[in-house]
Amino acid sequence: MPSLISSFLTPLTGTVKVPGDKSVSHRSIMLSALAVGRSEVTGLLEGEDVLATAEAMRAMGAQVERIGEGHWIIDGVGIGGLMSPDGVIDMGNSGTSTRLLMGLIGTHDITVTMTGDASLRGRPMGRVIDPLTSMGARFSARDGKFLPLTVTGTGNPLPIDYTTPMASAQVKSAVLLAGLNTPGITTVRETVATRDHTERMLRAMGAEIETTCEAGLNIVRLMGQPGLRPVNFEVPGDVSSSAFLLVAASIIPGSDITVQNVGMNPLRTGIVHALKAMGADIKILAERNLGGEPVADLRVRAATLKAVTDLPVDPSTMIDEFPVLFCAAAVAEGASRFTGLEELRVKESDRLAVMAEGLKANGVDLSEFEDGIEIKGAAGKVLGGATVATHLDHRIAMSFSVLGQMATSAITIDDAAPIQTSFPTFIELMTGLGAGLNLKG
Ligand code: S3P
Repeated sequence: MPSLISSFLTPLTGTVKVPGDKSVSHRSIMLSALAVGRSEVTGLLEGEDVLATAEAMRAMGAQVERIGEGHWIIDGVGIGGLMSPDGVIDMGNSGTSTRLLMGLIGTHDITVTMTGDASLRGRPMGRVIDPLTSMGARFSARDGKFLPLTVTGTGNPLPIDYTTPMASAQVKSAVLLAGLNTPGITTVRETVATRDHTERMLRAMGAEIETTCEAGLNIVRLMGQPGLRPVNFEVPGDVSSSAFLLVAASIIPGSDITVQNVGMNPLRTGIVHALKAMGADIKILAERNLGGEPVADLRVRAATLKAVTDLPVDPSTMIDEFPVLFCAAAVAEGASRFTGLEELRVKESDRLAVMAEGLKANGVDLSEFEDGIEIKGAAGKVLGGATVATHLDHRIAMSFSVLGQMATSAITIDDAAPIQTSFPTFIELMTGLGAGLNLKG
């Protein structure tokens, strides 16, 4: 288990591209596997989470093949064509693979047993088990709601009209994917609109899927059993991975970087607005469209960040970016307060508790509450000097790698391995820009 030592070396300068978007990459493989014919994906994220999806789809009968860097071809089996794998499928650390596949499997006449690493085995699956059970799927899960679990899909699914009890694109997508092999209209209602990659991609593949806003709800209706046509997906750069660079370049004095080809789906770009509200200098350049998603180049120059107490965006538009935003708050001027973040407790780790613990250990003054955190900014460098426990959480590892660049004494991240799940080139890319990051052990 290599640890990672983070300390200031030089300001960040240069132009980089981050790897492909994780959410879009997962979906491009799953949906291509349900098309009839051959799809091609370029810019695919080749992180461990997406590779777990690729392996699972292979185990269920699709041909998924890498033909070059980020360049994959997938021969789909058609909706209804998935087969029972001959062994347990291991989803590693990936909640997205697990929950979305539970949806797909739930309305196929197959049986699949899934497991994952210690982090994933601790994450709640009841949120997908509940709606999928009403569609006719059956589950046998550890303690009723955890991996390992066995899904027995139904050959006779019922369409449902489901209101998600929490803001979750994974739950919405699981129900929609189940709706693909269900006759009639499957409806998902959300009180807060979450990322809509599934909807955009299904539309591009010829599915009848409609999104409306009624009485303050975001409503998605999908007509079941479409013939999905294969398409060529171009995956945009991951805005969630870019977030580490946006924060790092904002807080390290003298930095000036450009991140190219960043996915700018409006339901994902909360971090850009949040940082701007704190005074960050981010220019959105060359806005364009890539494979049905907006993208842009982001130029970021260091700025003096001020605390924020009222985020200008809904938390769901930046749900994975809070750990690194907390690091920005730790070096900003004034006290920042973030609330409505109870979902952070059920991510790859309990991100409120784990961030609070790591920040405190490195000299940051804060108070943690049930659904949020208040962070008193140091108006410059934090003390640092402590070792942070990552709890198998990639975003914890990368967030403290960023904070270490603004710490008086180096910050040690106990385990760098989880970074492989979403951003395998993170260390290389950060050091290429001038960051001080050293692997040890
Ligand atoms: C994702 C949705 C989010 C996010 C995760 C990816 C997706 O999870 O945290 O990293 O691809 O649908 P929730 O649905 O749990 O909010």
